[in-house]
Amino acid sequence: SPYLMSLRNKIFICRSDITKIAVDAIVNAANSSLLGGGGVDGAIHRAAGRKLLEECKEIGGCNTGDAKITHSYNISQIKAIIHTVGPNIHSKVTERDEKLLTNCYWNSLQLAKKNKLSSIAFPCISTGIYSYPNDSAANVAMRTVKRWLETNDNASKMRAIVFVIFTEVDYKIYRKTLPKVFPS
Ligand code: APR
Repeated sequence: SPYLMSLRNKIFICRSDITKIAVDAIVNAANSSLLGGGGVDGAIHRAAGRKLLEECKEIGGCNTGDAKITHSYNISQIKAIIHTVGPNIHSKVTERDEKLLTNCYWNSLQLAKKNKLSSIAFPCISTGIYSYPNDSAANVAMRTVKRWLETNDNASKMRAIVFVIFTEVDYKIYRKTLPKVFPS
């Protein structure tokens, strides 16, 4: 439908390092301490600098599925960093894990809206160190973004949602999932 096509026009898939992207806000796949780690979290803290860690210390943590916003410091092409904490999968994905990953995308978008940020870039939350299966994580990511854009007048205020893909595996999955979730 024309409406779905207009939503589709706001979605971008990009194979890159998320610290290099020019958007209003980038999302960090953090842990509940917010004190840094490896993966995309390590890359963001390295690029932003020590002051990011100081602000994160003051926030005092973040529950799984929630999101917190900070300044972007040395990542000068963006306005803010949104830190969210995905579920850590130990064996099999439960309904609760799926709900928590959904909340990561939803709450990050809500925080962007609240702060009048109109473009946002997401990494593949939970699919690295936290071992969420790539295919189901991509489905949760895109379906949640779509549902959020369909809610209230969210679509009118959000210009671009970028999925920043780091691995070849995820790049293939996202290109396959996009037309399924946003059919033209
Ligand atoms: N830009 C974009 N994506 C990246 C980057 C980067 N610079 N570095 C890694 N990634 C990708 C990974 O390839 C993976 O697809 O981010 C995705 C998420 O992986 P992780 O960073 O491992 O995040 P996650 O699985 O959510 O685990 C979170 O890892 O670093 C710790 O503190 C973090 O404990 C928390 C855990």
